Amino acid sequence: MSPRRATRRLAADLHGLAEAGRLLREGGLVAFPTETVYGLGADATDGRAVAGIYEAKGRPSFNPLIAHVAEPDEARGLGQFDAAADALSRAFWPGPLTLVVPMAAGAGISDLARAGLDTIGLRVPSHALARTILKAAGRPVAAPSANRSGHVSPTTAAHVLADLDGRIDAVVEGGAADVGVESTIIACLGGDPVLLRPGGLAREAAEAVIGRPLAASSSETTIAPGMLASHYAPNAAIRLDARDVAANEALLAFGPDVPAGAATVLNLSPSGDLSEAAANLFGHLRALDASGAARIAVMPIPKRGLGEAIRDRLARAAAPRG
Ligand code: TXA
Ligand code: MG
Repeated sequence: MSPRRATRRLAADLHGLAEAGRLLREGGLVAFPTETVYGLGADATDGRAVAGIYEAKGRPSFNPLIAHVAEPDEARGLGQFDAAADALSRAFWPGPLTLVVPMAAGAGISDLARAGLDTIGLRVPSHALARTILKAAGRPVAAPSANRSGHVSPTTAAHVLADLDGRIDAVVEGGAADVGVESTIIACLGGDPVLLRPGGLAREAAEAVIGRPLAASSSETTIAPGMLASHYAPNAAIRLDARDVAANEALLAFGPDVPAGAATVLNLSPSGDLSEAAANLFGHLRALDASGAARIAVMPIPKRGLGEAIRDRLARAAAPRG
């Protein structure tokens, strides 16, 4: 399923960290320590690289990923920060806090890294090795925990290798992650800040800075971690496993054999490559939706590899909504 990759062990020295940065710039998958847990990093601006994260983890659906950068100012440039987000970022970055905010225009984070949302999760880790790697990469790095889907989060390089050896390009051997639980995630989307996931930063500390209690997350207002309720849903109806197309439909194609007759056609991958299809999925759906078609016909996507996650997302987009 996942293409075999020789996994290099990189020492946490100048050479190893520079190499980690270079691999990330070239679209590789690199696991690295942060103060919370080890992350599996890929260039957040490169949809193909991000697709590799899902492949390596064997994740059957696309969740939005956190974009990691080395400097608080850099992170603030990628999102729209309201007063609460600004205060939290100044109090707790670098550190185990992720802020979900509306994405800034031109931030360049791939659709797949955001799972098609207009918001973005941003984090500036405090771990010195992580920050050096992020500086060397010179771009935002998308990184979920570096474990196989359904397994526990790794706090050592050995844990990472136990799950991902042969599936990623490198792991930086940087000792144990000391916080050991993932970052606290707070969404600041204009209204009351919402605690999406408790984590390495105590709720009380965050509440002291904003001067009020954090709201509880509900699938109405925001996404709870791992939950899929408010993912991007197009206005157009979706028809799955379409082998033909009607004149009033837009067509989301896959592979070389595309039926004729649609008003608008976008192909997820003319060559039938599932990583390329994953990288294009949300952007193409959005573009077809914007074309004004009442319905989007979607050609069959194979179930293997990333096809499972693509099909999961399409099924959710096609589901009746209230
Ligand atoms: O400590 C951590 O946060 C670690 C290290 C590697 O930084 N990363 C981590 O990533 O735990 P992950 O993918 O396991 O969890 C990220 C969670 C997702 O489950 C998702 O719900 C939430 O962050 N998230 C990210 N972007 C979001 C967005 N735009 N809206 C809502 N939730 C978002
Ligand atoms: Mg995780």
